[in-house]
Amino acid sequence: MRNLNQDTITEAVLERFAATPNPRLKEIVNSLVTHLHDFARDVKLTDEEWMEGIQYLTATGQKCDAKRQEFILLSDVLGLSMLTIALNHDKPAGCTEPTVFGPFFLEEAPHYELGADVANGAKGDPCLVSGRILSLTGEPIPNALINVWQADEDGLYDVQYMDEDRIQARGILHSDANGNYHFKTIVAEAYPIPVDGPVGELLEATKRHPWRPAHLHFMVDAPGYERLITHVFREDDKYLDSDAVFGVRQTLIADWPRQADGSYTMNYDFVLNPIPTKVSKA
Ligand code: BEZ
Ligand code: FE
Repeated sequence: MRNLNQDTITEAVLERFAATPNPRLKEIVNSLVTHLHDFARDVKLTDEEWMEGIQYLTATGQKCDAKRQEFILLSDVLGLSMLTIALNHDKPAGCTEPTVFGPFFLEEAPHYELGADVANGAKGDPCLVSGRILSLTGEPIPNALINVWQADEDGLYDVQYMDEDRIQARGILHSDANGNYHFKTIVAEAYPIPVDGPVGELLEATKRHPWRPAHLHFMVDAPGYERLITHVFREDDKYLDSDAVFGVRQTLIADWPRQADGSYTMNYDFVLNPIPTKVSKA
């Protein structure tokens, strides 16, 4: 295995990984090496471009901390996050479709009673959100755990502000005995994803805009059902067809009518995917 050249090196590298005991790891490493080498040959990668790529990935890692995940953001703008969701969440027709999780979820959100105002002082026009949590056959799902989170009218999530303990426009609620939920919040507005890092540089260099159409995040959990991570988008948003992270699905777009008093309403039913029950052998 000497004097390897651009045509023989790929086989030699694959051969070196041949004894990988975990079959899935072996499949992933083999495919990665094959595609990475094909990519370099395809674009005829120069020394300088290789170094620039290394520096870009280094800067992406250096931008990450407990609150900022620049690699996920990179995956999002490259469409890899939505591709992975599409590959793994093929739900039966009628189930609510999933979309990107995003970097702004907080495990420790406050719990609220139905009807409460989760905005908790966040800036924006008031909005009343309601709907039902349902099974595929239309049965209500009581006591489902509903996590909601969103940006304020300036396009910022609470975690993006400097003050450590601001908790706004997010909360945890439970559907009632009839599967209904409702809460007060502020109306969702379009906002740009963070551009003060390597992902922003990539968008700038490729003349892509950073905007996400207005949306409200939901994560719904109920025993016996697959966790649903999704958003509800606003029908009238100008970025619906050019979401920076490719997350829009037609079925997730809802009407958010403006009321005479300047407040908004939004009604959306979520349909959860049942986890198949294992038939135990007698
Ligand atoms: C979000 O919707 O919160 C989000 C998703 C992907 C990247 C940035 C933000
Ligand atoms: Fe968001």
